[in-house]
Amino acid sequence: MQVYLNGNYVDREHASIPVDDRGFIFGDGVYEVTRALRGHLFEGERHFRRLGRGLRGLGITVPAELEQLGEISECLLRTNGLTKGEALVYLQITRGAAPRTHQYPPAGTPPTVYLSVGPFTPPHELRAAGARAITIPDVRWSRCDLKTVNLLPNVMGKQRAVEAGVTEAIFVRDSAVTEGSSTNIFGVVGGELRTYPACNYILGGITRDVVLELAAENNVPVRTTPIFVHELGGVDELFLTSTTNDVMPVVEVDGHPIGGGTPGPITRRLYEAFARRLDRVGG
Ligand code: PDD
Repeated sequence: MQVYLNGNYVDREHASIPVDDRGFIFGDGVYEVTRALRGHLFEGERHFRRLGRGLRGLGITVPAELEQLGEISECLLRTNGLTKGEALVYLQITRGAAPRTHQYPPAGTPPTVYLSVGPFTPPHELRAAGARAITIPDVRWSRCDLKTVNLLPNVMGKQRAVEAGVTEAIFVRDSAVTEGSSTNIFGVVGGELRTYPACNYILGGITRDVVLELAAENNVPVRTTPIFVHELGGVDELFLTSTTNDVMPVVEVDGHPIGGGTPGPITRRLYEAFARRLDRVGG
């Protein structure tokens, strides 16, 4: 496999970064995971806009190739023979390599830019059955809107989910469901779609944005207000969204069934609308 590292396309086994890269030392960087179909990115522009916002938010030097990241991604997909089915593009930019100091390194320190691609199979079987989840306290910081590689609470949350034999861990802050360890969460309450508002306590997911557009197109009323934990037992439907899950029904939380314990009709409708958007990529 070929990857892209700091201006060069190189074999994955020959790609290396200095041990004092601030991504390694401090988790000082941002990342994106983007879906590709038939060699083309799904919502690439939105991913790159979010990336640019993250770089500016953290004061990381915007790399020269920011405008070319779409082309670089698609070049990697071609080089690695991933132009037929589905694939994922991983992209990470760190503040670069410099002797360890907490403050930012000297101006002019070049950021580290890394992209890789791999084949992807959407979780259709899980979608048909519906996923199960647990709730955990949201112990993260107050800038969850920045997609940084500092993912320890997310990593630990997902591990708890795996150990509990379920798919996702759902964060709860001040009694409100914020989002999953790597997903956004939606509920259907009284025919209305509810999800945590886009703010500093969640990552504004690209899939979330698309689902909100699809809800409007499909006349599903939306209220961007939190679902509270005590409401979970009474929601009609629950689903999670992300680049790797699309729209994924959740049929059980903390051992209690959601709705009828099977994927609900609004979730299914929104997934079908989402799948039609995916079908249009590269068409
Ligand atoms: N995660 N919330 C969190 C905390 C996430 O990490 C993600 C994505 C999302 C959904 O965002 P999007 O729809 O743009 O994928 C929400 C990626 C997929 C990951 O870390 O692998």
